[in-house]
Amino acid sequence: MGNRTVLITGGAGFVGSHLADDLLERGYSVRALDNLSPQVHGPGAKRPDYLAPDVELVVGDIRDEAIVRRAVDGVDAVFHFAATVGVGQSMYQIANYTSINGDGTAVLLEALAQKPVERLVVASSMSIYGEGLYRTADGELVPGTERSIEQLRGHDWEVRDVDGEPLTPVPTPETKCPAVPSVYAISKYQQERLCMTVGRAYGIPTVGLRFFNIYGTRQALSNPYTGVLAIFASRFLNNSAPLINEDGRQRRDFVSVHDIAQACCLALEKSEAADQVFNVGSGEHFSITEVAERMAKVLGKREIEPEIVGKCRVGDIRNCFADITLAREVLGYEPKVAFEDGLRDLAEWLEGQTAVDRVADASKELAARGLAV
Ligand SMILES: NC(=O)c1ccc[n+]([C@@H]2O[C@H](COP(=O)([O-])OP(=O)(O)OC[C@H]3O[C@@H](n4cnc5c(N)ncnc54)[C@H](O)[C@@H]3O)[C@@H](O)[C@H]2O)c1
Repeated sequence: MGNRTVLITGGAGFVGSHLADDLLERGYSVRALDNLSPQVHGPGAKRPDYLAPDVELVVGDIRDEAIVRRAVDGVDAVFHFAATVGVGQSMYQIANYTSINGDGTAVLLEALAQKPVERLVVASSMSIYGEGLYRTADGELVPGTERSIEQLRGHDWEVRDVDGEPLTPVPTPETKCPAVPSVYAISKYQQERLCMTVGRAYGIPTVGLRFFNIYGTRQALSNPYTGVLAIFASRFLNNSAPLINEDGRQRRDFVSVHDIAQACCLALEKSEAADQVFNVGSGEHFSITEVAERMAKVLGKREIEPEIVGKCRVGDIRNCFADITLAREVLGYEPKVAFEDGLRDLAEWLEGQTAVDRVADASKELAARGLAV
């Protein structure tokens, strides 16, 4: 699809800007629609320096019909990334999350219904699954269910079966039924389903990518609501210990933003991908404590030990990591960035950055609303 124009909504953000680099390299023209949200880009934000000069930036809100119509004019494909991003914050900014993520997607789709494109790729999220898939002691596969508030208050963090036996987490495939345990998750599932449904109705080949925990350069360091690695990095940079919820043994799949960009390009170019959803992760998983320790090592801050706070955010999950078999088979996706290499890359970039540590403020916001137990 060389010589084609691609629109990335949210294209001035972390993932969008990396994808823009890869698309430009592959010969596409790239347009970004982004409102340069202050939570991500700082107050009075200007075009970010990291955004490639060849990207045509349209500054505006995804809910603004006129701007969106202008942004989709003349494009051959669209990546829909514009979203407000943060599980904890979504639990009290309910209207804002529902409006930007839900209504924004609706406005985009009404514009695309009038001017269909050759491909639409929507950023969905692992958060839609809630708890991942688990195995019982007998080897039976069962979906993990939400832990009760009473259980969490008692600091019993494990996901258990009906008899109270702890379950063992296993990789989660796309077939696991979504449990959407937060307002953010609901809004991401809504984005995914709206795009898949409207895409099919209007003959727009659409691909949903369920991203797992993405890390890499350019992630907003001062946004305390998103990106555990960026949050930890921001703490280390300020010589404070990373704060770890629960007991630190919860497991996640951390995937490099470069691998995410790879998956996006495949989703754009592989005709077989149309009308399907794929997990995009690294296929590996680590506990949160392991991740904090590895980061401390890479940053040369081994003397700063992570602080286990023994708290849990309402709506948070214990374990979820990706089964990426489908993306391997259909997209030909293969993660290329080893975790240590990705962390080193992140550490080099961090040396030139300053981060305003707003983690304490964010924790207070949640606690004041009873959203931390
Ligand atoms: N980073 C992750 O770990 C992760 C994981 C799963 C899914 N995702 C999804 O991937 C996509 C990109 O995430 P990211 O990490 O790059 O986040 P990001 O915050 O860096 O980028 C999102 C961009 O959208 C823009 N935006 C926000 N509200 C907007 C609005 N009303 N109108 C126009 N633009 C708006 C922001 O200014 C920002 O540049 C999002 O849809 C997110 O939900 C991210």
